[in-house]
Amino acid sequence: MLYSLLYLTLILAILFSLHTQIAHKLLIGHHPLHVKRSPHLPLRFSSDGTFKILQVADMHFGTGMVTSCRDVLSSEFAYCSDLNTTRFLKRIIEFEKPDFIAFTGDNIFGSSTPDAAESLLRAFAPAMEAGLPWAAVLGNHDQESTMNREELMSFISLLDYSVSQTNPSVEDASRATKGDIITDIDGFGNYNLEVYGAPGSHLANISVLDLFFLDSGDREVVQGVKTYGWIKESQLHWLRGVSKGYQGQKEDRHLLAEALPSATPCALAFFHIPIPEVRQLYYQNIIGQFLEGVACSSVNSGVLQTLVSMGDVKAVFIGHDHKNDFCGNLEGIWFCYGGGFGYHAYGRVGWPRRARIIVAELEKGDNSWMGVERIRTWKRLDDEKLSKLDEQVLWELHQTR
Ligand SMILES: *[C@@H]1O[C@H](CO)[C@@H](O)[C@H](O)[C@H]1NC(C)=O
Ligand SMILES: *[C@@H]1O[C@H](CO)[C@@H](O)[C@H](O)[C@H]1NC(C)=O
Repeated sequence: MLYSLLYLTLILAILFSLHTQIAHKLLIGHHPLHVKRSPHLPLRFSSDGTFKILQVADMHFGTGMVTSCRDVLSSEFAYCSDLNTTRFLKRIIEFEKPDFIAFTGDNIFGSSTPDAAESLLRAFAPAMEAGLPWAAVLGNHDQESTMNREELMSFISLLDYSVSQTNPSVEDASRATKGDIITDIDGFGNYNLEVYGAPGSHLANISVLDLFFLDSGDREVVQGVKTYGWIKESQLHWLRGVSKGYQGQKEDRHLLAEALPSATPCALAFFHIPIPEVRQLYYQNIIGQFLEGVACSSVNSGVLQTLVSMGDVKAVFIGHDHKNDFCGNLEGIWFCYGGGFGYHAYGRVGWPRRARIIVAELEKGDNSWMGVERIRTWKRLDDEKLSKLDEQVLWELHQTR
């Protein structure tokens, strides 16, 4: 049943991409078929020179109204459900008016729903209704229902306004890497999205901000011991290739790059499970709170060294540990937690659910916007005023300090 639905949706997507207008008029029984609504692409900066991302970490959606909340005051328990998660998502979208939403995994809590498709549809509904481009990666709980990780990612990629991908297409991979085709990647949900410069600017037709999404897996057994998943070498190989491809574009626009240092692409990465080095941040200056141990894999696959060697990734946004919401710097790259978003997810009583906002700002040239000049972040709590906290600059092109 599920497979046939997926298959049908897939056929429709193909029909749509072939511009078959009749698809709109097809009926099954008496129900008009739904054709995926796509956002206006490419993603690009606004004419005010900004691009705002809402990071939603760990929604842990179940089935909706009957799914109870965890770690809320006992007085709140009776009237709290997944609908509070939905309400928070709607409120914050309305309040912050992001250009894009990044869901960093554990979007649904598989074991609390008998139907993964239904749960996903409900969980992402506010993003779809807002008509905002959005993308998701998987956590370690998404596949604990009726879909495996591949099915989840293909379903997610077919939802309205989703720009998620199961994995990069062959053309995407080879365009970015100039022919060095990398297709065999571990996991599902490894892809890159380009954000073009402001309309009408010199950089209107090229990516000035790359968003890398990676599948950090779920659980693994290493030498008989259970641990969390990790980002594999095949994924890092793909990432290095894509990043090099973008940075290589510099040569194509050599004059541009000389005139505009900010034309060098800048990147952000999103995945679910933290890397082991995040533990070291306990002993360093951080912005935000470190209220629980870092639950990561026992395997260190060298993600940090890869990111450092690439040079374009300025910040990484993770989830998984709901009671950590801090940003800390590892070898020049910021690692920021989203802080738990969902009410069915564990949390801390009296510590409101929260979300992270990330804003990239362009450099103002004499008569047009240029490349990325600054990246800022802050969080908002799901309280009455959607309180803002911990605003900070993550990266600046012209370092003044
Ligand atoms: C959940 O939502 C209900 C109704 O919208 C509200 O009354 C209640 O306070 C919310 N609970 C929490 C913990 O935010
Ligand atoms: C970008 O592309 C549009 C449409 O193809 C074109 O009109 C515009 O001149 C291009 N801008 C730049 C800076 O290349």
